[in-house]
Amino acid sequence: NEPFCVLGIESSCDDTGAAIIRSDGVILGESLASQHSIHEEWGGVVPGLAKTAHEQNIDRVVNESLQRAGMQIQDVDAIGVTVGPGLEICLRVGCEKAKELAIQNKKPFVGVHHLEAHILMARLPKDHNQTDQPAEDRSMEFPFLALLVSGGHCQILKCIGIGSYTILGGTLDDSLGEAFDKTARLLGLPVGGGGGPAVEALARDGNPKSVKLPVPLQKRRDMDFSYAGLKTAVRLAAEKICVERGVESPDRLSHQDKANIAASFQNVSFKHVEVRLGRAMDKVQREDGISTLAVVGGVAANKELRSRLEVLCTDRDHRWEMHVPPPRLCTDQGAMSAWASVERLAVGSSDVAEGHEVYARYP
Ligand code: KG4
Ligand code: ZN
Repeated sequence: NEPFCVLGIESSCDDTGAAIIRSDGVILGESLASQHSIHEEWGGVVPGLAKTAHEQNIDRVVNESLQRAGMQIQDVDAIGVTVGPGLEICLRVGCEKAKELAIQNKKPFVGVHHLEAHILMARLPKDHNQTDQPAEDRSMEFPFLALLVSGGHCQILKCIGIGSYTILGGTLDDSLGEAFDKTARLLGLPVGGGGGPAVEALARDGNPKSVKLPVPLQKRRDMDFSYAGLKTAVRLAAEKICVERGVESPDRLSHQDKANIAASFQNVSFKHVEVRLGRAMDKVQREDGISTLAVVGGVAANKELRSRLEVLCTDRDHRWEMHVPPPRLCTDQGAMSAWASVERLAVGSSDVAEGHEVYARYP
């Protein structure tokens, strides 16, 4: 098994990312252009603006990742790119670039599923640059349970193998990341690139029990999520505090009031995760003997969520093992496309040999 290197490109939403990863999991070079400031004033991602920014950044990001790896495009063994799901006009920018590079340089092309790429980041060998232990000993084996919490998705999946996943639960309305983004907007916090980090930081100053909010879907004993009702409950609670304080709108509230709202929202939104995930853990442990959990997607960068799920794993009859990528690898970036490509190529699944028409299948 000769080591090989993949250039991965990601442009599904508002981050233009590229990275070179070696098949043993070492990230050789990375570059990321975030468009946070562009979307800030609109309070969310504007697809047309995102597309233009991707077009402006893609070449620089690809070249930078190669430079940092000390490589030329000819030195990489394959090119991978996120082909979906995501914003179509944004995906297209990354796909066109990857196609062009693959054809010009006669390299295999790998189409990457964005959700699978988030999940597989939990299998990227950790601390690869800090230990002599072989990579195989440190990566997480299939099958495992995954909690995928991002801006676009909110799912619990049984992960059986590369390309093989069973969705045990999804969201009936909003995702957890969206709920964070909407809470941030309500409180007038910075939302470019997602409001999650701002809500998390503010919540540290608040009392999580101070604002009463209902835990969603208590009557449904399944593994689905719903965050739309909680979003409304947060807004109503904030408006009530505004009336008490004689303040016009929630963004005008004091730091302490806002912190209490943020902390209470975060507490209940994570309680909802714990209930649904706990149920899924019981099920797969009983039925499939699974006791490994991967927590992935942008919201997995949240420290409070990480520590609460760590407790959920240790507090069970049979201790669960939890794998979470480092925070910067939870949110969208190029390494996820590169690593997912490595994983697919390693099991002999690419979309093609060099110079094939298969390229045309991608947007
Ligand atoms: O995975 P991601 O970068 O993009 C999607 O595939 O959607 O996830 C972005 C989401 C945003 O909603 C953002 O607010 C949320 O992840 N997020 C966080 C944190 N960091 C990012 N949510 C809570 N706490 C964080 N620290
Ligand atoms: Zn994502």
